[in-house]
Amino acid sequence: MIPESFIQDVLARTDIVGLIERYVPLKRGGANYMACCPFHNEKSPSFSVSPTKQFYHCFGCGAHGTAIGFLMEYCGMSFRDAVKDLAQQCGLQMPEDDAPQQDRARTVSLLDATLRAARYFREQLRHAPTAIEYLKRRGLTGEVARQFGIGYAPDDWNGLRTAFGADYDEASLVEAGLVIQNDAGRRYDRFRDRVMFPILDQRGNIIGFGGRVIGQGEPKYLNSPETPLFEKGRELYGLFQARQAIREAGLVVVTEGYMDVVALAQYGFGAAVATLGTATTATHIQKLFRQAEKVVFCFDGDNAGRKAARRALENCLDQLADDREVRFLFLPAEHDPDSFIRVEGLEAFRRAVDEAMPLSEFLLQTLRGDLNLGIPEDRAKLVHEARAFVPKIAAPVLQVQTVRLIADDADMSAEEVAHALGIRLPGSRHGNRRSPPARPRTPRTAPAGPQRQLLHLTARFPELLDRLPGDLEALFGESAEATLLQTFRDAHDHDHFSAATLAALYESCEDDARRALLLELLNHEDEAFADDDAREVARQAARLEFDGHFTNLQIAALDHEFASLQQRLTRGEALNTEEMRRFRELPAEKQQLRSGQKMS
Ligand code: CTP
Ligand code: MN
Repeated sequence: MIPESFIQDVLARTDIVGLIERYVPLKRGGANYMACCPFHNEKSPSFSVSPTKQFYHCFGCGAHGTAIGFLMEYCGMSFRDAVKDLAQQCGLQMPEDDAPQQDRARTVSLLDATLRAARYFREQLRHAPTAIEYLKRRGLTGEVARQFGIGYAPDDWNGLRTAFGADYDEASLVEAGLVIQNDAGRRYDRFRDRVMFPILDQRGNIIGFGGRVIGQGEPKYLNSPETPLFEKGRELYGLFQARQAIREAGLVVVTEGYMDVVALAQYGFGAAVATLGTATTATHIQKLFRQAEKVVFCFDGDNAGRKAARRALENCLDQLADDREVRFLFLPAEHDPDSFIRVEGLEAFRRAVDEAMPLSEFLLQTLRGDLNLGIPEDRAKLVHEARAFVPKIAAPVLQVQTVRLIADDADMSAEEVAHALGIRLPGSRHGNRRSPPARPRTPRTAPAGPQRQLLHLTARFPELLDRLPGDLEALFGESAEATLLQTFRDAHDHDHFSAATLAALYESCEDDARRALLLELLNHEDEAFADDDAREVARQAARLEFDGHFTNLQIAALDHEFASLQQRLTRGEALNTEEMRRFRELPAEKQQLRSGQKMS
């Protein structure tokens, strides 16, 4: 859990306009900045960024959020990563990172090292005819090579010294995996005489490299080791370059190799990424589903490819949802995506992607293995095997469908299979009827009452918070509004209350009702005051309005108290003396509130 105060700090120091500008060209339009929305296709701009609220909103597709939300939506980052990223940019250290203080400085210099190295490799490629010849032979044009920042590490034990000079001896070069130091303390370049593929994170930082030998040689690919920047189980090669294409295609193809991604892009299929010589992890899949609802695994047609597909299958089950889709594309045994698209062409590859095997089918195939379903023992084995997969399927409807398929194969009823797998079928008589209803996609909005009005007014003029009584619950009962007002008050005490506070609250809030309220506040029209006098007039008006709503709330509370006492009396219940006193005094108290209201 990242503390909210930290998120507030980060948002307060971040300029959302500057941030978004890096990805989307913005034009000033009145108080806000406008652009064509990066989250849907449009011709005229309806995407607006408010510098005062530090919030973006698209009037076309409804996309909205803070700087954090933008990084999550646009770059597909997790909440944590987005906060971390922004924190780094404004020089704040993530609180839970209990790593020593020097960590930040080091990370920056690691990125510096990889960037300088990548520049050097790119530059070297221009003077390396053998490498250029190799890339050409593999069908790559200069344009695609540039798009992926492909370079060349010369056949030189200390080539990087040219790029780094005296800095070559910095520890960060070793930490970044660029330089190896032997036991004798001598340093030499890790990558020599290789075609270099820089590996980018989602922001476009260079975090590592893959280097391929030219022609024959071992190892065929040499990769950066795991470093503080580079964790193979999290990163996907090509994701940074593929984002736009993924969005347009509505799907992403996952391959096994650098060259697969580059070749697919070369031949016009941009929506591809590759795992980095590792199995597909749940983190990978999570990242991919942030970019598209459909993921197609395309592994080589060989045995290793099948095995990789099986791992991917296992790791994606708990990332599924009924509106997500996973498919498996098995190419002919002699092909990998690179050779396939070169031989068969773009259209054939597209068709193959469209016709890829649905997850359920691959799952069934995997379970069947070489069982003989004519034998009861093997049918039992089938169901037994399924225990490792089916309960993990996080898409409830697909899970039922899969149970049915297995039941058919096993010659059992769906209920019997479900029982054997330890899962409950929804709606079955013995089933779990208390399964939670689907969460509504749009948060519900209650009719605007005095509570809501108070909330809006205090968001505009936080000093109004001082007019509220200490015990909010007595007056408001338990409501999202009351909780938020209390949160506002806490934030105000710390002198942090601003648009960024609202955005931060919105970003970190997990309660649907409260989120809806915060969004309502954040989306409220920008108030522009001609001058200080105008602001003062608005402030006065707001205070009167505030007092009016506040009194109405108090009156409502008295009415409620009176009604419940009266009800008890009519039921013949005895009231104690204190309660009798309240019962007698309440109408007068209410009258007093009313007349006070009239006077002001
Ligand atoms: N790989 C690796 N180390 C190796 C071999 C492979 O890290 N010694 C990883 C690389 O990420 C590579 C991927 O596994 O891209 C797939 O390997 P492979 O199928 O052997 O290579 P291709 O991608 O087909 O490479 P090429 O077409 O250049 O031969
Ligand atoms: Mn290949």
